[in-house]
Amino acid sequence: MSKPKVIVTRRWPEAVEEALREHFDVEVRVDDKPMSKSELMDALTRADALFPTVTDRIDAEVLNSEPMRCRLIGNFGVGFNNIDTDAAKSRGIVVTNTPDVLTHATADLAMALLLAVARRVGEGERHVRSKAWTGWRPTHMMGTQVTGKRLGLIGIGRIGGAVAKKASHGFDMNVQAYDPFPPSADRLKDLGVTLVDSPKTIFETSDFVSLHCPATPENRHLVNAERLASMNPAAFLINTARGDIVDEAALVNALQSGVIAGAGLDVFEQEPKVTDELLTMDNVVLLPHLGSATTETREAMGFRVLKNARAFFKGEEPNDRVA
Ligand code: DGY
Repeated sequence: MSKPKVIVTRRWPEAVEEALREHFDVEVRVDDKPMSKSELMDALTRADALFPTVTDRIDAEVLNSEPMRCRLIGNFGVGFNNIDTDAAKSRGIVVTNTPDVLTHATADLAMALLLAVARRVGEGERHVRSKAWTGWRPTHMMGTQVTGKRLGLIGIGRIGGAVAKKASHGFDMNVQAYDPFPPSADRLKDLGVTLVDSPKTIFETSDFVSLHCPATPENRHLVNAERLASMNPAAFLINTARGDIVDEAALVNALQSGVIAGAGLDVFEQEPKVTDELLTMDNVVLLPHLGSATTETREAMGFRVLKNARAFFKGEEPNDRVA
């Protein structure tokens, strides 16, 4: 029996590409550049499955492609806001994602950003590299203490929960969270989290606010000028979720005018474009969407797509079906 044809839109870790070839007739985007709309549309007519990433916008227009051959979209990523799942459903296409395997890598990176911006790690590193350092002195580059401070989480799902545990158990932080669909009281206790009933409390009373909610239309610009203004001027914002949860222009204003103390950002509203003003600010730490970027995690994500696809083509329900 011939193998199903799959198109992989970006390079994957070698071990996973190799494993894919055992089970599928694989076409990989070897130049590793994002596919254009017409290339994505063409891919849907040529393959039984498409394996895109966060950089591929699979919208209703792309999904209008004819004649449609694709029956499965296996997203390489837990967030699937790059895919119009309603349009996929209406074309009879199953969509899967890669939850669980990137939880700790992403939570680790949220903590890294939190520590880096509070302790001026980026700024300090640039200082040493530029040979500006003249030696230790008691008032040099003083940052903000992290241990024991109050961390507010917007979203306490898998990644938010892992951040909570690391912060409360590792850094003795006082962690509070808002989530419209909170986990059980037992889980909250294990994570060391107090639940609050509105985002307002999180913004008004936290020393650090970290975002861990999905990029739904309702969450677009959840962090706006008003919410930023309600934060403590000594507080920091951390975003490892999705760029459009934050109104980036409002954030730039807030950072420039001292409305908040700083921000640690792994995601941006118009990725890979970053608002110019951010690039020159010392009170921000900027990363190129690295949340899940460990070898272990990126391999696990690929193997998760593979597992879902194998189940699908055997006629079984894939574990991580989201549409
Ligand atoms: C995800 O999985 O949603 C990340 O943002 C990309 O790895």
